[in-house]
Amino acid sequence: MSHHHHHAHGQDEAFWDQMWSQRPRRREEPHEFLAESAAALIPGAALDVGCGEGTDALWLATRGWTVTAVDVSKVALDRARSADRAQRVTWIHANPNSWRPPLDAYDLVVAQFLHVPPGERPSFFDALARAIRLGGTLLFSAHAPPGSGITVDRPAIADLYFSADEVVRALPGCWEVVIAGEQARVAHTHDGPRQDRDTVVNARRIG
Ligand SMILES: C[S@@+](CC[C@H](N)C(=O)[O-])C[C@H]1O[C@@H](n2cnc3c(N)ncnc32)[C@H](O)[C@@H]1O
Repeated sequence: MSHHHHHAHGQDEAFWDQMWSQRPRRREEPHEFLAESAAALIPGAALDVGCGEGTDALWLATRGWTVTAVDVSKVALDRARSADRAQRVTWIHANPNSWRPPLDAYDLVVAQFLHVPPGERPSFFDALARAIRLGGTLLFSAHAPPGSGITVDRPAIADLYFSADEVVRALPGCWEVVIAGEQARVAHTHDGPRQDRDTVVNARRIG
C-alpha cells in the first residue's frame, strides 16, 4: 500500500487533527445506534475506540459506564478533555489502528466510523472482539458501502467501505449476533438533512 493510499484513509494524526480543527462544533447527542443499543445493557467497563471529541464516551459515563476512550487526534482529545465531567473518562492518545486493548477487559467495546484499511481490518476486528469479556457486547458502526438512497456526499474510495458480514466473520469465538446489517441515518449537513446508511453490528460474546 502506498504512502498516498494511507493518507487517503486518514491514518495519520495530522489528517485527523485537521479534520477536527475544521469541525469546531461538538456533536451534543450520542449516535442513535449506540444510544439505543447501550440502553439495553447493564453498565460496566466500556471502551470507545476512535472516540474523536468524546461525545459518546461522555454519554456512556453519564449512564454509569466506566469508560476508556482512545483516539489518534490530540485536537479531538483536547476538546474531549475540556468537556463537563471529562475526568470521568480515561482518555488515551493512540492510533486506534495499531493500539491493542487488553484481553477480556470490557463489558462493552464501541467503535464507530473507524474506517481501517482492508488489509488491517481482520486483525483490528479480532482485537476488538478479544477485548470483550464473556457476556459483553460489541457495538460497531461505519459508513455502509455506496448504494441507492444515499444522498450525502462521501469519499469515492471503495476500500473505505465494508459490510457487517465482514465484521462478524472476523470475530473469534462464539457470538450472539443481535444486529448485523445496514441502517438508514439522517446526516445533518451544512446543506440540510441528507440520507446516509451505516454498517451496524451489535454482537454479544457467548463463548
Ligand atoms: C470519523 S471519526 C469518528 C469519531 C467518533 N467515533 C464518532 O463516531 O463521532 C474517526 C476517528 O477514529 C479515528 N480513525 C478513523 N479512521 C482511522 C484510521 N483509518 N486510522 C486511524 N484512526 C482512524 C480517528 O482518530 C478519528 O478521530
